[in-house]
Amino acid sequence: MCGIVGYIGPKAALPFLVEGLKKLEYRGYDSAGVATLEAGELHVSKCVGKIADLETLLLTKPVPGSIGIGHTRWATHGQPSHLNSHPHEDCKSELVVVHNGIIENFLELRQELQERGHVFRSATDTEVFAHLIEENLQGDLLKAVQQALKAVKGTYALAVISKKEPGKIIAARSGSPLIIGHGEDELFIASDIPAILKYTSRVTYLDNGDVAELTPEGSRVFNLAGDPVIKEISLISWDPESAEKGGYSHFMLKEIHEQPNAIRKTIEGRVRAESHEIHFDELNLSDADIRGINRVVFTACGTSWHAGLIGEYLFEQYARLPAEVEYAAEFRYRHPIIDDKTLVVAITQSGETADTLGAVWEAKAQGARAIAICNVVGSTIAREADGVVYTNAGPEIGVASTKAFTTQLTIVYLLAIMFGQKRAILTELETAKLVNDLIEIPQKLEETLLGEPIVEEIAEKIYGATNSLYLGRGKGFPIALEGALKLKEVSYIHAEGYPAAEMKHGPIALIDKNMPVVVLAFAGRRYDKIIGNVEEVKARGGQVIAVASKGDNLIAERADEVIYIPQTTESLSPLLAVVPLQLLAYYIAVKRGCHIDQPRNLAKSVTVE
Ligand code: M6R
Repeated sequence: MCGIVGYIGPKAALPFLVEGLKKLEYRGYDSAGVATLEAGELHVSKCVGKIADLETLLLTKPVPGSIGIGHTRWATHGQPSHLNSHPHEDCKSELVVVHNGIIENFLELRQELQERGHVFRSATDTEVFAHLIEENLQGDLLKAVQQALKAVKGTYALAVISKKEPGKIIAARSGSPLIIGHGEDELFIASDIPAILKYTSRVTYLDNGDVAELTPEGSRVFNLAGDPVIKEISLISWDPESAEKGGYSHFMLKEIHEQPNAIRKTIEGRVRAESHEIHFDELNLSDADIRGINRVVFTACGTSWHAGLIGEYLFEQYARLPAEVEYAAEFRYRHPIIDDKTLVVAITQSGETADTLGAVWEAKAQGARAIAICNVVGSTIAREADGVVYTNAGPEIGVASTKAFTTQLTIVYLLAIMFGQKRAILTELETAKLVNDLIEIPQKLEETLLGEPIVEEIAEKIYGATNSLYLGRGKGFPIALEGALKLKEVSYIHAEGYPAAEMKHGPIALIDKNMPVVVLAFAGRRYDKIIGNVEEVKARGGQVIAVASKGDNLIAERADEVIYIPQTTESLSPLLAVVPLQLLAYYIAVKRGCHIDQPRNLAKSVTVE
């Protein structure tokens, strides 16, 4: 949560700071601020609200200078207010700090600092940094930051500028992401790649414990003890356009439409055309390793957890391996019974989710092999895991996850088929059929997206609802959960996802004519049972919106609305069925006038527990 940026170079810092913060707004958007240095003076502008509000303020209160830092906030300590907005200052207003993370011992530090005469202006944990650095500052900002960091417990990505040393930015990282972008004669810092993509594709990923000094001459990285650390420069392959809306009204809609190509890229290079053999060379898993694994545990949060739930079903079905999915926050503290024969698969778009990271640490501590399915290259979880498979979805900016989910699912399918193949559970013929069907999914998704106007019409009919139910059986159940989560997130309508058979054990009491019930009714062995559930809803006056396979005329006679998806193997249907539900949530939110890409109270990466 929270995004930070910084600039040092020959140009005015402000345009990049504002633009970079806009690209990071998905990380938090309740208040924002910038600070620059010019002619030895600090200039600070901050306010409650979004970056657009900050821009308005900057029209009357611009901040000059070619060195600056900025922040967009998702409140943890202290409500969104002017005083709690970053940057935070020391007592003498000689230095300012922006911070992403949580300082766990801030109360204790704050009290000690107050006892020593420091005056606090905000309720944030971050402000302790400003005062700690102030106390340690004796002519060397880098050393003062290093000293200050030794006193704190918790997580941080931070940037500091001081009028005492006006030619530099000090940046540091522990637990929250931070990168340095290397441009022509200029340096950038940012919490995430999209902020700098337009300016450079050359980045250095800071690691925990790194403290960087950025000056017009270049960047140097040290550890907390002051020893130099050699860092590599990596090249980012994302195209700058991928972080723009590209003519769509929202990132969410753009990202929904990007799914066919995103899935193509996810599959590309991982399937051998002739043999249908699936390979993930990046995992360094030999055939013997695969055969030695006796259990698979998926761990994740939110939408990524839903991908893990499908993973559980797929590994049981294709690989006949005991598999389960665990909420990362529960798994990490629950004394899980795992060992070196357990494969733990962390699924995460951002690679920065605190609970998922904790689950990876726990898995490794117990001797399990922990791999990650991740979208963001170089992210913390990608680097902490024993192996990583990238989803190749490109940057996902909308807070509601869409293309990250379907590309995660694609990897989960490929892994499950690979395990089934290597464990000799799937025959060559079965493998070839599944792989071929998976390869056809992107084109079928394009077909699915042609149904968008129908989904929009349905949204028009139900956008006034206050509650809704999503039902599915088998692999339709995770999609029911995901459809409900999408609706909650972007439209603020209360929605519940349920295994359809469970409806009669409670939720059926809620059904009346005002309750839209979305039913995943795609073709497969549970189809008749789902039809039974549709009848039960209709008998109680509920409105049924069914997602069904093309050619299913029976459902049209029973449901109020039907959204058709192309026919495919039953187990692959989730990849198609989720897309109309993403669109439904999107159009309902549009009609309700919601902030679709930045829903209230949410942030894209949840880097706090
Ligand atoms: O980056 P991650 O995949 O680890 O994020 C996990 C969840 O926070 C995320 O999926 C969240 O539920 C999304 N907002 C869902 O749309």
